[in-house]
Amino acid sequence: MTSNAFCRSFLKEVPKICSFQTKLPQGFHTSCQMCVKRKVRIRISSKNFVETAIKGTPQFIARHLADPYVKRRFAQGYRCRSAFKLIEIDNEHKIIKPGMKLVDLGASPGSWSQVAAERIFPIIRSDSDGSEVLSTDGIVIACDRSRFTPLPNVVQVIGDFTDPQTQKQIQDMLREGFSDDKADVVICDAATNSTGFHEQDHFSLTKLIISATVFVTKILKPGGTFLFKMRTGSEIQKMLSTMKRFFGKVHIVKPPASRTESTETYFLCKNFKNK
Ligand SMILES: C[S@@+](CC[C@H](N)C(=O)[O-])C[C@H]1O[C@@H](n2cnc3c(N)ncnc32)[C@H](O)[C@@H]1O
Repeated sequence: MTSNAFCRSFLKEVPKICSFQTKLPQGFHTSCQMCVKRKVRIRISSKNFVETAIKGTPQFIARHLADPYVKRRFAQGYRCRSAFKLIEIDNEHKIIKPGMKLVDLGASPGSWSQVAAERIFPIIRSDSDGSEVLSTDGIVIACDRSRFTPLPNVVQVIGDFTDPQTQKQIQDMLREGFSDDKADVVICDAATNSTGFHEQDHFSLTKLIISATVFVTKILKPGGTFLFKMRTGSEIQKMLSTMKRFFGKVHIVKPPASRTESTETYFLCKNFKNK
């Protein structure tokens, strides 16, 4: 199947993923395009609201200071504690290997890209003068709307990854110096702005992930891996069954570094079937 035919077949699945309109109460427009088209409204009630620690509050600071992952991230020089989510997933499932081509969607401030670059470009020799020689194969392309402080061995694409122009830039980079424009692994920790309303946040992230997946089906090698973040909610099971049609193995994983009270969860989709 060609890439375009594949994307069309993926898009046919999208209405199934976004068929949540019947479950929602009335009174509020969701950000899901399918539902907006159908003029579906939902009502926000306080029972849907998820309380989270707000940055800067004493509650947030106390939790932050007591968090062992925060201490480890300073000790090991990672940009943020979320680095450990990828480290734990990869240590268990071995998705990132030396010499791979990897795309990180929603990469800022860059800790996932940092972890990916360490594993794609391992140290192959440490010289007596203290200098280190890294393996040179592979590429890490980090895409985000926000520019972040550059990282060694990571190339940045600044833009919205749902925008065709940004997607073209990523494809051009994947092709540069390689025989094709395909990636071995795509990781996506992108987040939409949180409203604090569980289902609303779940729907907006679902919509973003659907756009990301359509792009991923164009750039992923057959057999490739797609790891992405979701928020738990009513669409999880539909997302799971859809992903299973396109990937040989799909696991839902919650690494220990992801806080128990957080609604985030990760989809690890292996063995892309675009043959
Ligand atoms: C939770 S942060 C990612 C953290 C990153 N994995 C790390 O470990 O440093 C989510 C990022 O997704 C980005 N994002 C969300 N939607 C995006 C889009 N459509 N295009 C590009 N970036 C996006 C946001 O700008 C934000 O920087």
